[in-house]
Amino acid sequence: MKPITVPLALPECGEEEIRAAAEVIRSGWLTTGAKTFEFERRFAEVVGARHCVAVNSATAALHLALEAVGVGPGDRVLVPVHTFTATAEVVRYLGADPLFVDCDRETFCIDAALIGSALQAAQSKSGPEKVKAILPVHFAGHPCPMDGIMDRSADLGVKVVEDAAHAFPAVYRGRGSKRAMDNGRTIGSIGDVTCFSFYANKTITTGEGGMLATDDDAVAKRARVMRLHGIDRDVWNRYAEPVSQWAYDVVAPGFKYNMPDLAAAIGLEQLKKASRFRQRRQAIAQAYLDQLKDIPGLVLPRPRCSMEDHSWHLFVVLLEEKDTRNGLSRDGFVAGLKERHIGAGVHYIPLHRMSYYRDTYHLTPEMFPNSEWVFHRCVSLPIFSAMTDDQLAYVIDEVKKILG
Ligand SMILES: Cc1ncc(COP(=O)(O)O)c(C=O)c1O
Repeated sequence: MKPITVPLALPECGEEEIRAAAEVIRSGWLTTGAKTFEFERRFAEVVGARHCVAVNSATAALHLALEAVGVGPGDRVLVPVHTFTATAEVVRYLGADPLFVDCDRETFCIDAALIGSALQAAQSKSGPEKVKAILPVHFAGHPCPMDGIMDRSADLGVKVVEDAAHAFPAVYRGRGSKRAMDNGRTIGSIGDVTCFSFYANKTITTGEGGMLATDDDAVAKRARVMRLHGIDRDVWNRYAEPVSQWAYDVVAPGFKYNMPDLAAAIGLEQLKKASRFRQRRQAIAQAYLDQLKDIPGLVLPRPRCSMEDHSWHLFVVLLEEKDTRNGLSRDGFVAGLKERHIGAGVHYIPLHRMSYYRDTYHLTPEMFPNSEWVFHRCVSLPIFSAMTDDQLAYVIDEVKKILG
């Protein structure tokens, strides 16, 4: 029998995506056009945002979002230290500086209580005008504590740009705050701007791609201009109108971040399947939670949201460094998975451990005790919508065997 191999993640594309891409190729219009605008409209309906601007990555969306809310040289942006570098690098693109905040040990999201103290520390040093935005990451698809984040941002007059690279679709339900949103709000309809990723390992994919969602007319307008060289109108308008309009103006030195129709056509098909994909991810997470719960030393996720409100982009477990029955370390566990052809990841090596951020901002592990604690213990197990029942059963059995 062929040995089972289980990657950490795999995109799920079918004949529908192939047909949609072929249709775009045959149409002769490959770049940003009707498909992209349709994708923007549909995505805006799903996340409950007034505007969506499709781009070629979440990194691009984050960059455009910060630029559009006015982040510039010398400003500071609050960023979780426990994230992928894209979250912080976009702050540097604009000549601003990230102000790193530690994470929560259970959700791995930014610790809302620590945002207040980080803001106070920054403002006592550099004046209130310096902090321009908070950039929370909905880690693994678990919504951040948005009530607290929105309250703090309102008190301080700073913008909230959400990194929702992992969090489509996800819902936040606030509790016990003046902003309590008992009926739930989709991620994409809460902060000033929300940025999604359609990278190949994400919950829906266009290969590479991203979306900026906002209710703010001015932010959407600026992002549309800046995603295409700072030109005051889309190429689509210039060439596809019945009477071709050759004239245009460049109003700023913009970027080249537009999403092509080829990607948007795939995105439209993925969007139709998003609910089924999410349900499958949830079922996989539930199976892990039910069947791995009695392994000594293995700490499973304990979401503070309902299973349905989580997008389950990642399933991150923690291994007590020395407490497992057979004394297996996190690295030994990852090696055991590899021997059995099971993909695993570490999300994340925190940014204070990356030489650029460490050296530029004089960061030490002691400054981020929670992120350090998580980093030494975390392992991501395979989770993707196309994962078969056989693959799931295999991972569960092998994890049990490795951990004795
Ligand atoms: C938390 C986070 N933010 C941003 C990104 C960047 O996404 P993209 O590859 O679409 O630029 C990623 C990518 O994995 C991510 O994990």
